[in-house]
Amino acid sequence: MDKTGGPIGVFDSGVGGLSILKEIRRELPSEDLLYVADSAHVPYGEKSVEYIERRSTAITEFLLDNGAKAVVVACNTATAAAIHSLRSRFPVPIVGIEPAVKPAAEMTRSGVVGILATSGTLASDRFSTLRSRFDSEVEVLVQPCTGLVEQVERAELSSDATRGLLEKYLVSLLDRGADVIVLGCTHYPFLAPLIREIAGPAISLIDPSAAVAREVRRRLEKEGMLSAASGIGTERFCVSGSLDEGAPIISRLWGVSDIEIGMLR
Ligand code: DGL
Repeated sequence: MDKTGGPIGVFDSGVGGLSILKEIRRELPSEDLLYVADSAHVPYGEKSVEYIERRSTAITEFLLDNGAKAVVVACNTATAAAIHSLRSRFPVPIVGIEPAVKPAAEMTRSGVVGILATSGTLASDRFSTLRSRFDSEVEVLVQPCTGLVEQVERAELSSDATRGLLEKYLVSLLDRGADVIVLGCTHYPFLAPLIREIAGPAISLIDPSAAVAREVRRRLEKEGMLSAASGIGTERFCVSGSLDEGAPIISRLWGVSDIEIGMLR
């Protein structure tokens, strides 16, 4: 059976996972990509684990029905809530993402690292386990960032409101000595220029998107699933909310004016 055909399915609560999709496109130029933004249900960050699990299952079923050969959960919150059940339910490679605490612990000079993420990610058992592995080496500060996902969903990447929220969240980490900030939600790389501007040049930011894309390559390689095609792959986008609202934002953040986009059904 040919395991190399079909797109790589990628999903998030909204547009945040496009930060991962960009890196997958860079890492794997000839793969076809199918992206789902669950825009009718964004944000996931303050929803229950059961709710996120239900959404993640429905979207994974949709991706597989559309021929996906592998699934990337391009969302820290959904990974924390649902990756375990997705992996037990679906027989395809499933790659997730979690806050990059390890690289941050290796990089810090002050011994204090700050994690920006959603409340759901930070409250999860998965994150507690991850954090406890580094607690004896460094101080891990966490900052839930209520409202930031919504700002990115509106493509407000540098508005006064977004700046106000970020200043509040960053000050709480920087004042306590953090010199490395982890972008623990896939929406936040879109805010990296503003975060850098507010935090200043002495602070390092960790964006794990490229590492996730490399992991996708490794998994597909290992399973003999890398595309055999030599041309440039296609991208297709689906939203569960309004197409009229979703299309221009996705197109803007993806950086292509003419995208193929439809509804999640
Ligand atoms: N991009 C999702 C993440 O990485 C955002 C979750 C949300 O919708 O709150 O956590």
